[in-house]
Amino acid sequence: MTKIIIAPSILSSDFANLELEIKKIEENGADWVHVDVMDGHFVPNITIGAPVVKSIRKITSLPLDVHLMIDNPEKFIKDFALAGADIITFHYEAAKDNPEKIINLIKSYGKKAGISIKPNTKVNEIKDIVNKVDLILIMTVEPGFGGQAFMFDCLDKINEIKKYLTKNIYIETDGGINPDTAKLCINMGVNALVAGNYIFTHKNMKEAINSLRI
Ligand code: DX5
Ligand code: ZN
Repeated sequence: MTKIIIAPSILSSDFANLELEIKKIEENGADWVHVDVMDGHFVPNITIGAPVVKSIRKITSLPLDVHLMIDNPEKFIKDFALAGADIITFHYEAAKDNPEKIINLIKSYGKKAGISIKPNTKVNEIKDIVNKVDLILIMTVEPGFGGQAFMFDCLDKINEIKKYLTKNIYIETDGGINPDTAKLCINMGVNALVAGNYIFTHKNMKEAINSLRI
C-alpha cells in the first residue's frame, strides 16, 4: 500500500507561534507542511507570501507544499522557488492561457509542479496537462478559508483524473478533510491529504494525523 502523505495546513495554526506549530506537526508525524498563499483577488482572503515561506524554510526540513491561490501565478513562481518551496501548486483557473508555461517555469527551478482545480472546474479542462505535473490538487471546498464542509460531489473527479494519468503522481485533496472524508478520498485513489482545522483543533495532534491515514 502506498503511504498516504499528510500535509497539515498552517492556515489553521497560531501565526504568533508559527515556529512552535511547525515543530509540533513535525514531531507528530506530518509529511509535508501545506502553505496557503492567498492574494485577495483570486480568493476573497489574504494570507501570507514568500517572505514567510523563507522563514519557515529555516526551521523545518519537511517539504513545503505551497498552494498558490493567486492571480498571475507566473509573476511569483521565482519568489516562492527561491524562498525554499519544494512543491509549487497554482490554480488552473488563474492560468488558463498558459498552464504549461507555468509548469515549465516551476520545474526550471528544480521544484515539483502542481496544478489545482476549484470545485466547479471540470477535469477534462486539464486532461492535456495532467501528465506534465507532479501533483494534482483537487479542491474539495471553495478555496479561501479553512474550516469549511467537504463537498462530496468533488470525489468523482478523482476517478476521472486516474483515467487520464499514464504515471503515478500525487493526487491531493484539500478542504474539509477529517477521518471520514479522508477515507473516502483514499479509497478513490488520493495519496496526499491536506487538513487544517481537523489537525489544529484536535486535542491530540498525533492521533489526529494518524487517524487520517485510515
Ligand atoms: C482553503 C485552503 C485549505 C484549507 C484547508 O482555501 O486551501 O488548505 O486551509 O482547511 P480545512 O482542512 O480546515 O478545510
Ligand atoms: Zn490549500
